[in-house]
Amino acid sequence: MMANLNVKRQVNVNNNDEFLKDILTGFSERQKRLPCKYFYDERGSHLFDEICKTEEYYHTRTELKILDDALPTIAGMIGPNADILEFGSGAGIKIRKLIDALETPRSYCPIDISEEILLHSSRKLKKHYPELLIHPIVADYLSPIDLHDTFATESEHRKLVFFPGSTISNFDLPEAIHFLKHIRSLLTAGDVLLIGVDLLKPEPILLAAYNDRTGVTAAFNRNILDRIAATYQTNLEPGLFCHRAIYNAEKHRIEMHLVSTCEQTVEVEGESFHFRKLESIHTENSYKFSLEGFRMMGMNAGFDQTAVFTDEESLFSVHYLTAH
Ligand code: TRP
Repeated sequence: MMANLNVKRQVNVNNNDEFLKDILTGFSERQKRLPCKYFYDERGSHLFDEICKTEEYYHTRTELKILDDALPTIAGMIGPNADILEFGSGAGIKIRKLIDALETPRSYCPIDISEEILLHSSRKLKKHYPELLIHPIVADYLSPIDLHDTFATESEHRKLVFFPGSTISNFDLPEAIHFLKHIRSLLTAGDVLLIGVDLLKPEPILLAAYNDRTGVTAAFNRNILDRIAATYQTNLEPGLFCHRAIYNAEKHRIEMHLVSTCEQTVEVEGESFHFRKLESIHTENSYKFSLEGFRMMGMNAGFDQTAVFTDEESLFSVHYLTAH
């Protein structure tokens, strides 16, 4: 039945030992930290979908509105028979809008770290779009990805990389450039990157978005501790940490932390880590850009800005970048 769904596994992701190594290293640093990619197990991905529905989190609904308005134009610019690549496959609402708008897209290649989520969304899409070739790849998209098998015979078609949701905000700046260059290396001149980018805006709007009243963002942040507690020998009690999101104006970023509510010693697989009261674990950054700042970053990575779309309040942007 799923004859066309040929899943490729490019790296051994969800590898517990890598997670453990990252915990032990991250807890040993002066500013304790955990890599944000570990947010996204099944529960984390579900909580993230809930964040997107909160009133304060303007990103999702704004990006959807921008896409609704701009997709007819974008589809005209892209033309027929495109091969779509998406990094992180998510809930699938945005990709459907894109597929619906494009003229006879040929193939869709979602790349995601979670095989469960990837399979689930790919199966649903295949049902909905039986004509579309679907090539799911399980990979940590921070590592180099080999698309040779997938696109060898299809290279004459225009490639479109879709990277919505301002996930680019969650990379540090050198990593973001590196990632854009990596995308560029998968493309040929004339191919397109369609990318969602969150914009600079007054601090209260930002703080509210990452401190929603219902506490879903807090649960999402703490889920990384729940994962540690569920996976390893540890006395870690997620309830002894609280969520904090602050705006670092100098660095133009929201920072998410988990703050220890008391002085405590946390043991993980036999190693001990001391936490002072109010000491934090830094879990994620979310950089905010100006339109011009992001255009320059794209230029640096080998892309020209062909078009940019925003909402009336300039909360969010969607950049149409062409590989040069
Ligand atoms: N990239 C989006 C952002 O930075 C989505 C996101 C990632 C997010 N991690 C998050 C949103 C944690 C809220 C909390 O906003």
